Amino acid sequence: MTATAVERAAMTHALEIARRGPRGLNPQVGAVILSPAGDVLAEGWHRGAGTPHAEVDALSKLTAEQLRGTTAVVTLEPCNHTGRTGPCAQALIDAGVVRVVYALDDPGAVSGGGAGRMRAAGVDVVSGEQAAAAQALIHDWLMVQRLGRPQVTVKWAQSLDGRAAAADGSSQWITGPTARADVHQRRAAADAIVVGTGTVLADDPALTARDGDALFAHQPVPVVIGARETPADAAVRRHPREPLFYAEHDLAEVLADLRDRGIQRVFIEGGPTLASAFLAAGLADEVLTYVAPVLIGGPKLALTDIGVASIGDAARLVVDAWQPLGVDMLVIARPTSIATSTSAVPAPADEKTSRNEGEA
Ligand SMILES: NC(=O)c1ccc[n+]([C@@H]2O[C@H](COP(=O)([O-])OP(=O)(O)OC[C@H]3O[C@@H](n4cnc5c(N)ncnc54)[C@H](OP(=O)(O)O)[C@@H]3O)[C@@H](O)[C@H]2O)c1
Repeated sequence: MTATAVERAAMTHALEIARRGPRGLNPQVGAVILSPAGDVLAEGWHRGAGTPHAEVDALSKLTAEQLRGTTAVVTLEPCNHTGRTGPCAQALIDAGVVRVVYALDDPGAVSGGGAGRMRAAGVDVVSGEQAAAAQALIHDWLMVQRLGRPQVTVKWAQSLDGRAAAADGSSQWITGPTARADVHQRRAAADAIVVGTGTVLADDPALTARDGDALFAHQPVPVVIGARETPADAAVRRHPREPLFYAEHDLAEVLADLRDRGIQRVFIEGGPTLASAFLAAGLADEVLTYVAPVLIGGPKLALTDIGVASIGDAARLVVDAWQPLGVDMLVIARPTSIATSTSAVPAPADEKTSRNEGEA
């Protein structure tokens, strides 16, 4: 069974309205209810953990009479688990919806399986309509389900001879304006920017994502890790988002807390000690190295010890892109164990990594 042209158009719209929802603990999902004649009767989207799922939001706008014999078009398989409002699959059955078209299977071990429940109740179910677009929309959420933590990009700028700073600790700026603008764009695509206390004390970075002098509309949450106190007048304390401070070195713990706050993608901006700790712990999914045609020499290497004693142990990466940026070069690479796309995303091991179990 395949979707009709009207259902395909409704799915395109459902994908658009899904974007109105926030990135967070739950995926962005959109839903459209079609009359038996194919007219749009209602639309809904998920506004974040603790609020109704998209299907329930759309159903709530119609009377029982209007709902009879309708088709629901949803960007993610209707869930099969009981949160605050019960399974969406059952809500659709109870509402008298006779056909459901959805894009992507729910990967959750607990929340998945809604399609089977609806089919067993006699509902026509079509899956896979615009699955690639739905997957792209919630790529980062799917990665969190797969990894059990936010996706981690470790970024640094270095001289041609692999230095991240001069002997006196100054590092602003190694790269040119084109490379720095690229960094700001990537910051704006992340949910959090993370640095160690060493970088805060040496550079006093603002950790904002800027387009020239202006701030990008989306600002990632600034995060500082380390036991030393961040000065009261540090620039990061004037960030438009409330900074998070972790006075510890347990990076897995920090990532778990960030995940619980709904953070899906983090951008590690150094310095060398923190970047090395993420790499040594196997907690880097992607490495971005901005290489400038400048020589610095001296002791301030871009990385410290990452646990490689012998060349046979070197962390060999797969290069996804080499990109010239003005006079500089960006290399985007990842450990061989990390897949580029969520097409390889398997179902999570337990319900904690599925849609927020306690929520509607
Ligand atoms: N080129 C670049 O891209 C770049 C980027 C950033 C910084 N820098 C330069 O790097 C220099 C600062 O380097 P840095 O290495 O001191 O900075 P850092 O990596 O930002 O900070 C190091 C501190 O992070 C804390 N930390 C948190 N978790 C840790 C863990 N798991 N293991 C070890 N430490 C952990 C520790 O602080 P506590 O002792 O407080 O616990 C440690 O001393 C400056 O010269 C700066 O200009 C360059």
